[in-house]
Amino acid sequence: MTPQISRVDPPTKQGPQESEERIIIRGGKPLNGEVTISGAKNSVLKMMAAALLAPGVSVLRNVPNLTDVHMMADVIRTLGAKVTIGKDEVIIDASDITDFEAPYELVSQLRASFVVLGPLVARCHQAKVSLPGGCAIGERRIDLHERGLKSLGAEIWCEHGYVHATTDKLVGTRIYLDRPSNGATENIMLAAVLAEGQTIIENAAQDPEIANLADFCNAMGAKITGAGTYQIVIDGVKLSEMHGATIDTIPDRLEAGTFLFAVMATTGEIVLKNCNPHHLYSVISKMQEMGAEVSIYSPDIIKVKSGKLIKPVDCTTLPYPGYPTDLQAPLMSVLAVAEGTSIITETIYENRFMQVGELRRMGADISLTGNAAVIKGVPKLTGAEVKSSDLRAAAALVIAGLGAEGITEVTGLRHMDRGYENLEDKFRGLGADIYRR
Ligand code: EPU
Repeated sequence: MTPQISRVDPPTKQGPQESEERIIIRGGKPLNGEVTISGAKNSVLKMMAAALLAPGVSVLRNVPNLTDVHMMADVIRTLGAKVTIGKDEVIIDASDITDFEAPYELVSQLRASFVVLGPLVARCHQAKVSLPGGCAIGERRIDLHERGLKSLGAEIWCEHGYVHATTDKLVGTRIYLDRPSNGATENIMLAAVLAEGQTIIENAAQDPEIANLADFCNAMGAKITGAGTYQIVIDGVKLSEMHGATIDTIPDRLEAGTFLFAVMATTGEIVLKNCNPHHLYSVISKMQEMGAEVSIYSPDIIKVKSGKLIKPVDCTTLPYPGYPTDLQAPLMSVLAVAEGTSIITETIYENRFMQVGELRRMGADISLTGNAAVIKGVPKLTGAEVKSSDLRAAAALVIAGLGAEGITEVTGLRHMDRGYENLEDKFRGLGADIYRR
């Protein structure tokens, strides 16, 4: 038995190395079977913030059990909402908003919570929300959020690490975003729901999660059209016209993409249920170019079979409907063993190649030049101890480990638990040799 393989045996004594929770994978097992995709994290977090817009009780369904969901619940509880997290659903009673401050200790842990700014300023006419602070993957500015809310008539200033917003009333206007930021689109759209008159957001983010968010707002009494396209029109309504509502969270396209790449890394054939193929065209097209056989059974089933060989491809991350930055690292893990050289260009974040050093530890041949990664395919990766630095890097390392020869141990699991529900259980259900210790 090689020293590597002996690492899967339970440790006889606990040292500092063993104390950190880790996922242990014995790679090389083909994946086969069916997996059900959970609700989208990036949808549900924003809908939890949007629930603050309306007095009354809202119910979000198809909600994944993630640490981020629990953290967002804490944020909106701080503001006065009553939140109950049940199995697959979150119930929010936002009848009384008693505070308008989202503190640093919460917002710094969960950047998505910055999106309470829009609902707070719209409903309470004032907000004090901590600046989220640094992030491993890039600068993640908020200038477009600020400019958009200012255009609606809010006075905005930053002081002692907080964004303050105050207004007598918000008034609709036309707002052009320099880039289609998700967060800015969401904050402006949510604030505009209760503004006087019409707001038009040009060059809006077109992601399906924005459309889901608008559907929820509309169910609460808002008047939003065009969400999911580059132009969103919001006709402001009065607070008295808003009420709680029930909505289904859309399937998580990023979780679905993670499973699609995992089957390419390991070989096999899997069926994804409760996913939306329409949200994954850029990814499916890239996989087909790489040699995978992908069949779509509308409305919510994808079947994927890995090809015999993985063809190298070039890929540039772009705002939706372009190839998603969140699936850049998972793609890289597969291209690491392609039959030739691939280039991935990252255009969304300045620092989203954190997985590269770890993949190199597994034998990958990857070099970085500016915002491009040159990936020279090697015949195989070999298992190693690796540490994840962000959510999608964690997924990439698990995928690499599933395809690698020998044992891989992935640490830094707090990142993974923010965005993947029962990832190792789902992979085990597909035949992977994977567990958490
Ligand atoms: N940007 C600005 N100014 C702004 C806002 C954004 O320059 O005012 C820049 C950012 O610095 C970044 C780019 O625009 O370089 C994209 O930012 P965006 O606002 O679109 O991203 P986000 O809303 O902060 C969401 C997702 C991310 C996902 C991005 C891009 C959530 C909670 N997060 O972030 O998801 O990568 O959109 O699609 O919805 C993840 O799930 O792992 C994740 C990081």
